[in-house]
Amino acid sequence: MAPGGQFGTAAVAVVVSLAVHVVLNCPIQPVPSPTPPSAAYPPPNNLLQGLEKLGEGQLSGPEDVYVDAAAGGTLYTATRDGWLQRMQPNGTWERWRFVGGSGLLGIAPSADGSMLGLD
Ligand SMILES: *[C@@H]1O[C@H](CO)[C@@H](O)[C@H](O)[C@H]1NC(C)=O
Repeated sequence: MAPGGQFGTAAVAVVVSLAVHVVLNCPIQPVPSPTPPSAAYPPPNNLLQGLEKLGEGQLSGPEDVYVDAAAGGTLYTATRDGWLQRMQPNGTWERWRFVGGSGLLGIAPSADGSMLGLD
């Protein structure tokens, strides 16, 4: 037998006997948790069901949105085809700046006031 083999066998025997003891003499009796009263739940929040989807069917894989508060809340987005697009007041999208790249994933203002497309 390998050195320490007796210790390993003894350790396994202790673990097995403890497990059998716990299973046979378990003092814990599971009790189902009481159902909380319905008043404990907040009312359903359906606010997102009334949202308006901007650019649906017009934009190619839009990623990220930037709201230019200084320009009256003008919306910008970056699309997968390499364009930074700007929403017109009538809801149409203008291909504002071509940045290129293999797929824009974000948009952010730069320090000089221009816009950055994030690859
Ligand atoms: C929306 O506004 C832009 C910019 O003023 C204009 O070029 C475009 O023709 C307008 N589109 C529609 C559908 O009104």
